[in-house]
Amino acid sequence: MDEITKGEINMLEKLKSRRSIRKYEEKPIEKEKIDSIIEAALLSPSSKKNQPWEFLVVTDQELLTKLSLSKEAGSAFVKDAPVAVVVMADPEKSDVWIEDASIAATIIHLQAHWMGLGSCWIQLRNRQSDKMKTSEEYVRDLLEIPAGIRVEALVTMGYPAESKPHHKEENLLWEKVFLNQYGKKY
Ligand SMILES: Cc1cc2nc3c(=O)[nH]c(=O)nc-3n(C[C@H](O)[C@H](O)[C@H](O)COP(=O)(O)O)c2cc1C
Repeated sequence: MDEITKGEINMLEKLKSRRSIRKYEEKPIEKEKIDSIIEAALLSPSSKKNQPWEFLVVTDQELLTKLSLSKEAGSAFVKDAPVAVVVMADPEKSDVWIEDASIAATIIHLQAHWMGLGSCWIQLRNRQSDKMKTSEEYVRDLLEIPAGIRVEALVTMGYPAESKPHHKEENLLWEKVFLNQYGKKY
């Protein structure tokens, strides 16, 4: 087996153990690890190489506690994460900024997993912080993000304090995969 094939198999093996991890050890993440994760994000593909994304790394405990209120539900655990990355994008730079930002957020999530960290995506775009404020407005005000910059998601990370079973191969939705014509079994 050549090196490339081995690498491909290893990547799939790593993906099989990926889960969203929401509980973290009380232990900071080394700066070099955060650097690698952000480097991976900056290597993300983007439409026409417009690179509309921007990233804000939050390590300040007080800000993380405030970020845990950025959604009505689904963000409470941010207060116990040592790091959260706010994934943003400038819609002026690309009409497909949502796709570009989503790819970058996914790469952050995967690179964190590859480095032995637990991580979870928290949706902010199209979500509410409370009845008065959208999640985007809440995070923008808290972190002084300029009005034109859209806030897509938060990705938390930390040393995992929970372990989850791998997704079972028999549960994969192969019936959603078609060959040559919609509805034709792959
Ligand atoms: C677009 C997107 C938005 C998500 N938003 C949240 C969220 O706001 N809060 C949360 O706890 N998890 C969130 N998740 C994580 C999903 O709940 C998780 O991926 C899903 O339950 C499958 O679990 P797994 O990642 O462990 O396979 C989000 C994931 C994606 C891809």
